[in-house]
Amino acid sequence: MNPQSALSPAGPEAGSISHLFYFMLAVAVVVYILVVGALLLIIRRRRESDDDPRSPEREAVAARRIRLAVAVTVPVMFVLLAYDFAVGRGIGAMPTAPMLTVTVTGHRWWWQVDYEDPVPQNRVRTANEIHIPVGRPVRVKLLSHDVIHSFWVPNLAGKKDLIPGHHNELVIRADRPGIYRGQCAEFCGAQHANMAMLVIAEAPDQYDAWLARQRQPAPIPTDTLAVRVQSVLEGGSCAMCHSVASTRAAGGIGPDLTHVAGRRTIAAGTLANTTGNLAAWIVDPQTLKPGVDMPANALSSADLRALLAYLRTLR
Ligand code: CUA
Repeated sequence: MNPQSALSPAGPEAGSISHLFYFMLAVAVVVYILVVGALLLIIRRRRESDDDPRSPEREAVAARRIRLAVAVTVPVMFVLLAYDFAVGRGIGAMPTAPMLTVTVTGHRWWWQVDYEDPVPQNRVRTANEIHIPVGRPVRVKLLSHDVIHSFWVPNLAGKKDLIPGHHNELVIRADRPGIYRGQCAEFCGAQHANMAMLVIAEAPDQYDAWLARQRQPAPIPTDTLAVRVQSVLEGGSCAMCHSVASTRAAGGIGPDLTHVAGRRTIAAGTLANTTGNLAAWIVDPQTLKPGVDMPANALSSADLRALLAYLRTLR
């Protein structure tokens, strides 16, 4: 995984932001050195001279210096402002060419990810992981299901809010393959800090293979577990919130689980996606992420084992 840093850009949007940062830093360093230097000089002169600081000549000198400081400061501020505007406009500009479009919907506290396609059965829904092809701009539409969240993948772009009832969008492009961690950047409740996501930038053929896999329905269990899984998943409380394509579980409140085993983390980046963590999560999510919508599940150990075995097949 790449370091989650705006100063380690992997695409043009983050690149222009990091250039802006370094330019502002350089200007600030020069200004700091000049101001501290002038201050030290004045202190030294003041120590050496013994004339009255309130004399008209001294006051005239002071007024001249203030005018000079303003005359230098204002243009510097305007240069910074103009560069900042230019970067903002560059990032905000939407290419007119058709683009891969992904809709990200913020929920407390996870990310729903929908891949658009004109053909309805080619649409794909996943959660907390956004796969993108390297080198291709991706339009990310930002929506919110509940409160204001903020989409921030520092290696790829700046922050953009997800606002209930309002459509925002931004363009991201990754120029090198890698896994880029993103984070909700707007306080949205108790588990705001545990609302992470991963952007996985991969070679176009790998991306296409991933997308094709996501379009497949979940495998239908054929062994002896099948009946038990059906009763736990479809007959129990899971199906009220989660959906698994090709089963009767079609809830729309929690993350879609059709390919949950293929994800790297569960609970929006909170836990590695291992069987042990998944078991702990299903049994008692409130201990791991207090305040989430998912309740504890008092499953028998046989039911839990069957459910876990089934979930691991959802690649
Ligand atoms: Cu979502 Cu903070």
